[in-house]
Amino acid sequence: MKTVIVTGGAGFIGSNFIFHMMKAHPDYRIVCIDKLTYAGNLSTLRSVMDQENFRFVRMDICDREGVDKLFAEEKPDIVVNFAAESHVDRSIENPGVFLQTNVIGTATLMDASRKYGVARYHQVSTDEVYGDLPLDRPDLFFTEETPIHTSSPYSASKAGADLLVMAYHRTYGLPVTISRCSNNYGPYHFPEKLIPLMIANCLNDKPLPVYGKGLNVRDWLYVEDHCKAIDLILHRGRVGEVYNIGGHNEMRNIDIVKLICRELGKPESLITYVADRKGHDMRYAIDPSKIHGELGWLPETKFEDGIRKTIQWYLENRSWWEEIISGEYQNYYARMYGNR
Ligand code: NAD
Ligand code: TYD
Repeated sequence: MKTVIVTGGAGFIGSNFIFHMMKAHPDYRIVCIDKLTYAGNLSTLRSVMDQENFRFVRMDICDREGVDKLFAEEKPDIVVNFAAESHVDRSIENPGVFLQTNVIGTATLMDASRKYGVARYHQVSTDEVYGDLPLDRPDLFFTEETPIHTSSPYSASKAGADLLVMAYHRTYGLPVTISRCSNNYGPYHFPEKLIPLMIANCLNDKPLPVYGKGLNVRDWLYVEDHCKAIDLILHRGRVGEVYNIGGHNEMRNIDIVKLICRELGKPESLITYVADRKGHDMRYAIDPSKIHGELGWLPETKFEDGIRKTIQWYLENRSWWEEIISGEYQNYYARMYGNR
């Protein structure tokens, strides 16, 4: 029996990770900390809320006193930090909250992890800390040795957290691991990110806003494959190491949007090219050979299956995303796309 604190578990990847862990390790106790920002949704956790080995605590990871008290109470063996401000476009609008949650929040969790002697602190990071790759060099990939070279306030805040995690390992001997994953997709993805936004807009026959020319490339991974990789790192990964996670599934934004139109039987005339994102990264591409070689991890879901499952999920769970897009989201949408 182990106790695992999962932060940000009411968000996209954190919730999928909780579902995975409760199935894969039914003897573990899972304690979820989440502030429930605009991106956190308690209804996502409905299916596990009443289980005996699950506890939800609404808390800001920057709340030193609260975090300390919870660690004293729960004595966690493992901490997995998903909690973050995660949207590049929002970080361009308002960087401050990214520094607070992503950097200060990480330090707060690590201080408690040191004090209460956790056996593993895992930081969920992103391939965006490596910056981007040029479109005309398809032979280049991000390895764990690629220098940190960030573009957006979001990626800079995630990189700051990663550096702090490695510093806590070296200075205090905190037993840490870091994973840097490529773009995820799947159920419970907040509908302001590319794939769910395009699905929701298609279903509502609304314009599909493609930034720039839509030629930017992302390396898409089904969320369950990411969760399985983190589980492996927690149990078999080497302390002090960084593991890249990605499935060699590079796609241009425009091709994803056209594919969603085809799958939903909607016309491509819905596609609207809008002003590009400031500092827009061109291409992300992960070399996953370290996690494959050391831990035997490989992605299990092919993109064509994963995207169909995802679209099906959004069709069957309309109330989940319709509730989101009927609220504060409308102000965000007007601000972000109104004059673009
Ligand atoms: P998300 O925005 O869907 O969820 C973030 C969650 O964190 C929300 O539930 C939110 O309420 C919570 N949160 C935010 N600030 C908090 C705070 N101060 N205290 C406590 N909880 C807080 O994000 P996601 O897409 O699930 O990403 C999870 C993690 O994975 C992030 O660290 C992100 O950087 C990383 N990541 C995401 C992707 C991706 O494609 N989405 C890829 C690689 C890495
Ligand atoms: P996003 O889902 O925000 O993830 P990230 O920027 O972290 O990779 O965006 C994925 C890609 O899609 C990115 O190149 C920006 C682009 N994009 C659009 O073209 N239109 C949109 O409305 C959104 C949200 C993103």
